[in-house]
Amino acid sequence: MKYGYFDNENREYVITRPDVPAPWTNYLGTEKFCTVISHNAGGYSFYNSPEYNRVTKFRPNATFDRPGHYVYLRDDETGDYWSISWQPVAKSLDEATYEVRHGLSYSKFKCDYNGIVATKTLFVPVGEDAEVWDVVIKNTSAQPRTISAFSFVEFSFSHIQSDNQNHQMSLYSAGTEYKDGVIEYDLYYNTNDFEGFYYLASTFDPDSYDGQRDSFLGLYRDESNPLAVEQGKCFNTAQTCYNHCGSLHKQFVLQPGEEVRFAYILGIGKGLGAKLRTKYQNVAEIDAAFAGIKAHWDERCAKFQVKSPNAGLDTMINAWTLYQAETCVVWSRFASFIEVGGRTGLGYRDTAQDAISVPHSNPRMTRKRLVDLLRGQVKAGYGLHLFDPDWFDPEKADVKPSKSPTVVPTPSDEDKIHGIEDTCSDDHLWLVPTICNYVQETGEETFLDESIPYADGGVATVYEHMKAALDFSAEYVGQTGICKGLRADWNDCLNLGGGESAMVSFLHFWALQSFVELAKYRGEQADVDKYTLMAEGVRKACENHLWDDEGGWYIRGLTKDGDKIGTAQQAEGRVHLESNTLAVLSGAVSQERGEKAMDAVDENLYSEYGLHLNSPSFATPNDDIGFVTRVYQGVKENGAIFSHPNPWAWVAETKLGRGDRAMKFYDALNPYNQNDMIEKRIAEPYSYVQFIMGRDHQDHGRANHPWLTGTSGWAYYAVTNFILGVRTGFAGLEIDPCVPTNWPGFEVTRQWRGATYNIKVENPNGVSKGVKSITVNGGAIEGNVVPVQAEGSINEVVVVLG
Ligand code: IFM
Repeated sequence: MKYGYFDNENREYVITRPDVPAPWTNYLGTEKFCTVISHNAGGYSFYNSPEYNRVTKFRPNATFDRPGHYVYLRDDETGDYWSISWQPVAKSLDEATYEVRHGLSYSKFKCDYNGIVATKTLFVPVGEDAEVWDVVIKNTSAQPRTISAFSFVEFSFSHIQSDNQNHQMSLYSAGTEYKDGVIEYDLYYNTNDFEGFYYLASTFDPDSYDGQRDSFLGLYRDESNPLAVEQGKCFNTAQTCYNHCGSLHKQFVLQPGEEVRFAYILGIGKGLGAKLRTKYQNVAEIDAAFAGIKAHWDERCAKFQVKSPNAGLDTMINAWTLYQAETCVVWSRFASFIEVGGRTGLGYRDTAQDAISVPHSNPRMTRKRLVDLLRGQVKAGYGLHLFDPDWFDPEKADVKPSKSPTVVPTPSDEDKIHGIEDTCSDDHLWLVPTICNYVQETGEETFLDESIPYADGGVATVYEHMKAALDFSAEYVGQTGICKGLRADWNDCLNLGGGESAMVSFLHFWALQSFVELAKYRGEQADVDKYTLMAEGVRKACENHLWDDEGGWYIRGLTKDGDKIGTAQQAEGRVHLESNTLAVLSGAVSQERGEKAMDAVDENLYSEYGLHLNSPSFATPNDDIGFVTRVYQGVKENGAIFSHPNPWAWVAETKLGRGDRAMKFYDALNPYNQNDMIEKRIAEPYSYVQFIMGRDHQDHGRANHPWLTGTSGWAYYAVTNFILGVRTGFAGLEIDPCVPTNWPGFEVTRQWRGATYNIKVENPNGVSKGVKSITVNGGAIEGNVVPVQAEGSINEVVVVLG
């Protein structure tokens, strides 16, 4: 079943049937003010942190995605009312037509009902801490119409997310005031003029208003039938205490064919509502702000555009996968409809991996994340698994206590800095290739020499931080020389403690390869020697201890007692995705073993929805392996199609030169390809999800936890850098595609360090891999590395495979 389609020209997903089997969400905001909004206009806003600066309320895990950012319309002659988004009033789909366009950082709702066509476009202008609702109401009937418009948002109870559920004091510590078209909402009695101070403003002069939620909605009612809307005007409430909302009402008389346009503005900061209200009374300012959002994404998307024979790949890479990856880098985890802001921390490994995907489109934020992570690394080399970057940001540490005196925790060092018992064995390692990638993209070599403090004291350069990460993993190895599993490795539920993780040793090898290349480039010969030797030791340990000859694949690890996990002899958890894909991706293993390992992945883990994480799933609890053995079969880390490591398999196949297989795996996971089977998928077809139910679960194929998953960053990185094979190096732009044999060619436009490369790849002999020749602006070059071209230049690159 199908509920919508991709509009590539506008980079929008268009929902044509609003009765989608789950709320399909989007993210508004590019910097600090963020709204997670569904196709029903349900959702919530926060500022900077979903945990500490909640602006509007949301009730998670309910059957409805409410409350939200709503506009109600009422026909004042008949008393009939509806909402511009299908929910919450939900007119019958036989009498009203709804369309939702989720675009990059905006959502546009349209309703055509009884001779009134209304649109509402929500977006957060670049550079502003406010959300603009651009509303247009048009009378398409033959009679004059009298229409009332009402906004509705429910302000967050407290600006701490968890208080929304359990802090009764909040009932008495907040209040609304109304003045000149602005409802201001103040938490904590004006202790702060910015955070904790929210507003809803309208560009019109309201006829009535409500700041008290229960007056607006009425007793024993909800968002679907507010009393104020039913009676045609608000109650003009604004006072201290209880639950608060923002409703501003205005009546319009529209002649046939006439339309009216106005805006609501939801934002943060005392006095700013009045300011923005005046600004956006000039509709040219609304248009300019919206054009700013479009330009923001035009610029980012333009860094890498592809035209290939795979329409789904083009749609996702040219817009949606980049957009999702940026969303993860900017907002990290914990702000979606599943993760609703319970923890403010960034996962160390998640952020370190996300940051590999967008240095070209968002170098500023990538750099910031790298600095955040380096500050959250301890001298011993490991990362603090769940860390709040603000804890380690000297500027914020000073500011926070005075700005938000009662709410933001300022933990002691003891609470912030955990020891080895809570350390994850992979976290710090992801940093190394990500930093290398950042430097290759930006050319900012001085970053490596920048001094950054460790979380537990002392200062070191970025380059030294990288060495500390590599040294930690060399030290914390088990009896066989394979890295210890510690609290967990990439797999949160594989809790090996002193047992050993194959995945981490392969990851260590990959990080070492990246680092040695960097050290060579910098001419650090002693480091080249030391870490080349270290890598060789890791490689030997892996080959000697991790290959399962009978199965023909790499095992997942060893328990603390030395029992192997993932052998042909085992009935449960026999084949694993992480170890086999990273074995090949890292370059640690031979072509022969690599091919066998990836054949085992194909045979044992492949499904039409993507690759399973392990198979068969675990059915017998075993605490030496970890919590994974207690997770239901076919779910999450226990035998689901866990999306995040799927792209590792695509990269692995490209390393083996098997472009057909890489694309088979890519196509299986690509949400675009499930647009016509939403009854199975349920989740958005424009977003990767964390996991899809595996074949050991009755809902096999159902997709769960959209948006906030390392899958997007990895999918983007894998396709652009390894399938299409256009990647930055220290010496130039490497061109090394690995594509399906039936691709006659493809085109990529890549902007890099101020120059544009129009790359045309031809595949006359139907191969997957191998560059036969390259010309740059008509001149042949040796090898497959296009030298860095002059800033501002536009370069024609023709690549022939064969
Ligand atoms: O790798 C983790 C990630 O850090 C959080 N979500 C689950 C993944 C797999 O366990």
